[in-house]
Amino acid sequence: MTFTFRPLEDADLPMLHGWLNEPGVVRWWEGDDVSWEAVVRDYDPASGDSTEHWIASLDGTDVGWIQCYPAVDEPEETEPWFAFGIDQTAAGIDYLVGDPDVRGRGIGSAMIRAFVTDIVFGRHPEWTQACAGPYLANEASWRALARGGFRFVGMIDDDDGPCRLMAIDRGVVVGDQAQVRTRSSTASASGPSPTSDVSDAGTRREAT
Ligand SMILES: CC(C)(COP(=O)(O)OP(=O)(O)OC[C@H]1O[C@@H](n2cnc3c(N)ncnc32)[C@H](O)[C@@H]1OP(=O)(O)O)[C@@H](O)C(=O)NCCC(=O)NCCS
Repeated sequence: MTFTFRPLEDADLPMLHGWLNEPGVVRWWEGDDVSWEAVVRDYDPASGDSTEHWIASLDGTDVGWIQCYPAVDEPEETEPWFAFGIDQTAAGIDYLVGDPDVRGRGIGSAMIRAFVTDIVFGRHPEWTQACAGPYLANEASWRALARGGFRFVGMIDDDDGPCRLMAIDRGVVVGDQAQVRTRSSTASASGPSPTSDVSDAGTRREAT
């Protein structure tokens, strides 16, 4: 699988709005407003905040949205992470595969691994870990993280139910990262999109 990541643009918002309103996505969106007005407001590419929104393409077709942010910038979400020893220099990620018909075929886990390699660690030398805390009930999400090489860190009690905190260390993907840097050495924030070939979603680890 060859993934390409490009920064979300205004022109992507109708597609993203459709994805966010798909029942299999919105049920996990913590009650967020996913109306058109709210999507334009909350996913504005020009907002200037520290969260990066990306569109993932697989072999040239847009398949998903994925974001990353400095964990310290979202304390409401990440304070419990630090209590588990997660680095202050960690990044948080959130993601979706837009088309329900292609979920459950290995795309999500491979997309996450490629994103962590190319974007989180590939473009952010300051980030030492990547983390996400999906609901325990969202089995596809935490299993996709596990398949992408994330390890189970601990359980967090959210108002809407228990969550599985998962993390991956920079060192775990450093080999992949070196390969990507060789292929994408000319990429810059405004330049060509990073590309990653993922023949396997990465080290398979059993979540505990
Ligand atoms: C979460 C998501 C990105 C995972 O992507 P995916 O392409 O469906 O997942 P994969 O096919 O890579 O599967 C990864 C693992 O999840 C398992 N899985 C997939 N769908 C599942 C389901 N419906 N129920 C339980 N496990 C499931 C797979 O068997 C695999 O586990 P394994 O490695 O132990 O066999 C995707 O399902 C999605 O977009 N869901 C809706 C949005 C969402 O929940 N986002 C995350 C919010 S935290």
